[in-house]
Amino acid sequence: MELPADLQVALQGALRGKAIASLAETAAALSACYRASHGRGDGPLARSAGEALAYAAYRMPATFAAIFSALQATQRRLPSFAPLSMLDLGAGSGAALWAASGCFDSLQQAQLFEGEAAMLALGKTLAAQSLAPVVRAASWAKADLLAAPLALPEVDLVTCAYVLGELGASARTTLLSNMWQATRGVLLLVEPGTPRGFAIIRALRAELIAIGAHIAAPCPHVDVCPMPTDDWCHFAQRIARPSFQRTLKGATLGYEDEKFSYIAATRLPPAALEARIIRHPQVRSGTIELELCTQAGTLVSPTITKRNKDSWRAARDAAWGGEW
Ligand SMILES: C[S@@+](CC[C@H](N)C(=O)[O-])C[C@H]1O[C@@H](n2cnc3c(N)ncnc32)[C@H](O)[C@@H]1O
Repeated sequence: MELPADLQVALQGALRGKAIASLAETAAALSACYRASHGRGDGPLARSAGEALAYAAYRMPATFAAIFSALQATQRRLPSFAPLSMLDLGAGSGAALWAASGCFDSLQQAQLFEGEAAMLALGKTLAAQSLAPVVRAASWAKADLLAAPLALPEVDLVTCAYVLGELGASARTTLLSNMWQATRGVLLLVEPGTPRGFAIIRALRAELIAIGAHIAAPCPHVDVCPMPTDDWCHFAQRIARPSFQRTLKGATLGYEDEKFSYIAATRLPPAALEARIIRHPQVRSGTIELELCTQAGTLVSPTITKRNKDSWRAARDAAWGGEW
């Protein structure tokens, strides 16, 4: 996967004339802060224009990739879902807007809520350079997601990516209920693919099911999550690193793999799914081992052999995160 060309150009433009060394330092300091603050619900950390730009250059390709991948998986389970409107909460520099516009041709209207003025300003500047009218015309509002009452407009698609981990547990629950009320079609939550990111997604999944949501992806069932407590359900999306990102990270690899956990809750029941592939298939000579989360709410690890031609053919095409 690649970052959309117009977004790359917009990011390159925003970085023009900036001292790479100082941005790299800011980005490294931000990552250290994010790692150190996780769990305390300290709130947003990228506050200045420099911090917002460092975040976008360093992280936006990866968050875009994760959101795009989660939206695609959702779309496969809900092929008739054609959102006209979206709302993104904790929008940052706008990764979800670009991803949703790339996934859904139907999208006509987008609203983004973000708490930090510098992030919002950068997101708006980048969006103004998009080739997609819906991205250019998106409306951005400075809003605190923890404000009470939080009035959210009703839309077809609500997204909230890499935000919930910055909030405390009770704030997450309140926000979840607000987001679900605002959702006419699909609510997508994405978090880092870490034990903590997954624990947040797992808890919110249970809350969503308790209030009557269907799950479009990744789970093929609405039973209790069968993942053992010492493991975590996550997926990975590879994305090419734009040259500015390679320079900023001092990276030699031309790509990175973003690991993420997600849940797409829906008001419409999705088509049945036999199972989801939850690990890289292990290919050996003559066998392919899969790890699946099944419709029955169980984890199974079948070994596929060449003897079963149909399964073998399917297993050769199987990919982590895909449907089985
Ligand atoms: C890690 S960034 C993620 C940005 C974007 N969603 C993405 O995926 O790239 C988290 C964003 O949530 C915003 N945020 C955190 N707490 C917030 C709050 N209480 N109200 C509004 N925005 C908040 C931060 O300012 C930041 O832009």
